[in-house]
Amino acid sequence: MDDEALIRWSLTERLKSEGYDVLEADSGRAALDQLAEGVDLVLLDYKLPDIDGVTVLRKIKEFDQDILVILLTAYASVETAVEAMKLGAYHFANKPFNLDDIAGTVARALETTRLRRELRQFRTNAARPYNLHSIVGSSDAMTALRHLVAKIATSPASTVLLTGESGTGKDLVAKIIHYSSDRAVRPFMNITCSALPEQLLESELFGHERGAFTDARLQKRGLLETADGGTVFLDEVAEMVPGLQAKLLRFLEEKAFKRVGGAADIRVDVRVVAATNRNLEEEVAKGRFRSDLFYRLNVLPVSMPPLRSHPDDIPLLVEYFIETFNKEFRKKVLGAATSAYTALQHYGWPGNVRELRNVIERAMLLTEGDRLEAKDFASISSPGAAAGNGFELPAGGVDLEQLERNLVVQALRRSGGNQTRAAALLGLNRDQIRYRIEKFGLTLTP
Ligand SMILES: Nc1ncnc2c1ncn2[C@@H]1O[C@H](COP(=O)(O)OP(=O)(O)OP(=O)(O)O)[C@@H](O)[C@H]1O
Ligand SMILES: [Mg+2]
Repeated sequence: MDDEALIRWSLTERLKSEGYDVLEADSGRAALDQLAEGVDLVLLDYKLPDIDGVTVLRKIKEFDQDILVILLTAYASVETAVEAMKLGAYHFANKPFNLDDIAGTVARALETTRLRRELRQFRTNAARPYNLHSIVGSSDAMTALRHLVAKIATSPASTVLLTGESGTGKDLVAKIIHYSSDRAVRPFMNITCSALPEQLLESELFGHERGAFTDARLQKRGLLETADGGTVFLDEVAEMVPGLQAKLLRFLEEKAFKRVGGAADIRVDVRVVAATNRNLEEEVAKGRFRSDLFYRLNVLPVSMPPLRSHPDDIPLLVEYFIETFNKEFRKKVLGAATSAYTALQHYGWPGNVRELRNVIERAMLLTEGDRLEAKDFASISSPGAAAGNGFELPAGGVDLEQLERNLVVQALRRSGGNQTRAAALLGLNRDQIRYRIEKFGLTLTP
């Protein structure tokens, strides 16, 4: 065994003993040929029999810039070192080297890439559905909305107020504003103001100091701090109690706040996007919402049009949701029949795009065909029945639990025991039907 082979062998053995999968190559060419196997890190000898180390390094980085390269060299000139570093070498190890040092460097390097990859994956996953194109619709209303959202995303941190009925896309737009802005690499934090009691909401938003109240055993950072550099989405902002409205106002005016039980002012750079499905001006007139806060929030108002005001977008939205659920349910539904489109366009959509999405989801779960038909949308052709108005309470009353159990059993039977489809028949999600299956002790006979 010559010298080089011996070094390679000892490195390989050492790294294998640490649990790594190790590939060996005795030339630059051989190493490059193996990259396609999925390599995370290369220990690269600077002096190779065929191609020089720097060229191999360059080719590795061209292949995948995430691959880490540690150069092993006995005689690197400063120029070589600088060039290699510029090309993205992670580290230099001088020969003769210490196996423990190399193993340590490898471990650190791999941990760094793993984190970097995870972060990049996470960011692209989190951001992918949220760009201007995720607002579907070619009507004037949707075109104007896209333009406005694009402008807002690139404008400075000014506060945005989204108003509109339930299901019109306020959540969607809030995320698009964040992920299309240069804040996208920083956190998007979301809190529903109606979901928490006052004290909890306050400490969620502003954080609290240790001992601020009985349960505050530790200091806690609030959402505003966590979101520093990013965006905080305050959903259902009209439900905020007056005390908190005052604190939010102070934050918007001074960009500063105090943690609950804290004395020091904390400053953060956060864009606030607030949303409500109420008419805030009316809430102000009724004295339920502070007018000064309303004006502070209303710097960039965005009013989300109800679906019934732009029914021309329904076909596009239907196609979009069919595509979405084809992927999710691994189906191959091609589209909807003309009669189906007519039915969908004549319905009033009180639940707006969310309701349309749910209707398509249910139809896609239940259909056996490759085209959605009007009959697949029975719930909207007779909306009363869908809402349960078709049921007449018998004079003698009912046992509601018994009725519910009965319906769950029927739905399971009709779906052949498929919980997802049974849930769709009842307008439930899978967790909700599972809960009922357990509650009623329904064991499924296959
Ligand atoms: N123009 C649109 N294009 C594509 N999808 C949309 C559009 N508008 C809404 N949606 C989708 O409809 C659903 C409901 O939207 P969203 O949750 O944003 O509504 P919302 O206004 O926040 O409702 P709520 O007031 O009930 O919270 C989501 O799945 C969203 O992605
Ligand atoms: Mg919402």
